[in-house]
Amino acid sequence: MPLISTKEMFKKAYGKYAIGAFNVNNMEILQGVIEAAKEEKAPLILQISKGARNYAKLVYLMKLVEAAMQDAPDIPICVHLDHGDSFELCKEVIDAGFTSVMIDGSHLPFEENIAITKKVVDYAHPRGVVVEGELGKLKGIEEHVVSEEAVYTDPDEAVEFVERTGVDSLAIAIGTSHGAYKFKGEPRLDFERLEQIAKKLPGFPLVLHGASSVLTDLVEKANKYGAKLGGAKGVPEEMIRKATMMGICKVNIDTDLRLAMTATLREQFALHPEEFDPRKYLGPARDAIKEVVKHKLRNVLGCSGKAEEILASIKI
Ligand code: G3H
Ligand code: 13P
Ligand code: ZN
Repeated sequence: MPLISTKEMFKKAYGKYAIGAFNVNNMEILQGVIEAAKEEKAPLILQISKGARNYAKLVYLMKLVEAAMQDAPDIPICVHLDHGDSFELCKEVIDAGFTSVMIDGSHLPFEENIAITKKVVDYAHPRGVVVEGELGKLKGIEEHVVSEEAVYTDPDEAVEFVERTGVDSLAIAIGTSHGAYKFKGEPRLDFERLEQIAKKLPGFPLVLHGASSVLTDLVEKANKYGAKLGGAKGVPEEMIRKATMMGICKVNIDTDLRLAMTATLREQFALHPEEFDPRKYLGPARDAIKEVVKHKLRNVLGCSGKAEEILASIKI
């Protein structure tokens, strides 16, 4: 089936389950994610960042996505630009066939964020492409913009932002951050704020970035074989589940895939130092990604088995 936007996915998911948005940078990552979705019969968002595009070239990534669609004809798949930082980049990927883009103006003043987001919406919507905006700042690095302090999303501003831009979904800041070091002390998310935002924007799809759980067994395995990931901490899975019930429809996961791949590669190199056929270590790394994604789809996002109801709601 052709690529789809997130419209029907979010309509079905709202308040019940979430769609996993997994970052894709190469064939092994994509195959791990796709195999997991096939086995779980789950809908998917494949997201490609500017960094992924620079690393692998857009044309290669689009051909891989095309192959994934053929390999998984019964899985509804959306291809999404993660953290688009300019109108030109959003336009380029829309013209290349993406069905969803994020324009991340979260580091800009409110009015400038509205202006650039609206410009992308005005280009995307007539072409059947949906747009994710972001309001509030996550702590850490977002596409090379470093934010020392988080600025949580203001619920009233969120309403104004959505009304004035026409965005289809909104990424909010409630305490998550990108990468493997999300909390110094106890993990804490501002669920009251999420509740207020969802109340003021009833039924409107909200997005959680920085939603990796930094799974302990992966960190321990990586460290056992030489990594230095002391103090790594992610968002507890029960918090993701709770957020999903409260209006978060899209959950962004990249770090957990990186950890699965890195831990497995380190283990393979340590256990089989005589091996030099890349397939012998990339294969297990791909399997590790598949297992992590299966776990997320089934036990965290609750979207296993939901491919069919989404397909049924789409008239192609
Ligand atoms: O939000 C960041 C994602 O993990 C993508 O990371 O920009 O290094 O590809 P990247
Ligand atoms: P993690 O670093 O928690 O995986 O978040 C990824 C993300 O938000 C991509 O946009
Ligand atoms: Zn992000």
